[in-house]
Amino acid sequence: MSKTALITGNSSGLGLGLTEAYLTRGYEVYGVSRRGCQKTDHKLKDIRCDLTDYEAIPLALETLLMGISHLDVVILNAGILGEMKDMADSSLDEIQQVMDANVWSNKVLLDWLLKSGIRIDQIVLISSGAAVNGNRGWGAYALSKATLNMLTQLYAHEFPHSHLVALAPGLIDTAMQEILCDQDQVDASQFPSVKKLRAARGTKDMPSPVEAGEMIAALIPSLKQLPTGSFTDVRTIGQSK
Ligand SMILES: NC(=O)c1ccc[n+]([C@@H]2O[C@H](COP(=O)([O-])OP(=O)(O)OC[C@H]3O[C@@H](n4cnc5c(N)ncnc54)[C@H](OP(=O)(O)O)[C@@H]3O)[C@@H](O)[C@H]2O)c1
Repeated sequence: MSKTALITGNSSGLGLGLTEAYLTRGYEVYGVSRRGCQKTDHKLKDIRCDLTDYEAIPLALETLLMGISHLDVVILNAGILGEMKDMADSSLDEIQQVMDANVWSNKVLLDWLLKSGIRIDQIVLISSGAAVNGNRGWGAYALSKATLNMLTQLYAHEFPHSHLVALAPGLIDTAMQEILCDQDQVDASQFPSVKKLRAARGTKDMPSPVEAGEMIAALIPSLKQLPTGSFTDVRTIGQSK
């Protein structure tokens, strides 16, 4: 029987890289995004759904996962950056939009999965170093990823038969980095932490989505050594304490 993976946000970036890595490993991959995954592969099943349209999620998942009784890995990867700006300049509406996409959509997904009765071995929620760094300008995004880490810890109690981890995937050269590395969109003198990202772009410190997908797919089984509900960062795994 084929192994199975559910990956959200697999139309681009890390989600697409992970899709390719799991297809290479012979998994059946189930994907969800608004644009849909452009890859064609008989082992890839894909559905278009705006995950901030909470009422649409149950029907999308029922359709996508019909007949599935076991998922080896669920990767909740879909996310948005929002605008880099000071907290004082961020409206509650802007913060809410990022929270909707990065946190509450995942709550609805987890609730559906819990009730579905599908046996799930591992659930990986894609977090960020921004969850803990507290650098200027990362406002709504940082709040959303910090909340995602706690969401992971809380849901770990409620998924006793699954292993949950919030994982910061490191820097990856995706559409998100295109925004962060664009001087017209983000002013490095106001938000100096982006200088490090710009220096990393084009080096081994910011792999392509395909390279990152491969590295993370290879890493995921070993995450089960951590306590369920943990937050970890690919850049610190394996470092001595
Ligand atoms: N790139 C980095 O350096 C980096 C670093 C740390 C963490 N991350 C995290 O990695 C994850 C992937 O980001 P990425 O860098 O690969 O960026 P990306 O290329 O922009 O990918 C984001 C993915 O999320 C999907 N998505 C966004 N909003 C959605 C919605 N409302 N409904 C359904 N799908 C939605 C997008 O699909 P559609 O547009 O087709 O809906 C896309 O497939 C995110 O959680 C991000 O926070 C990235």
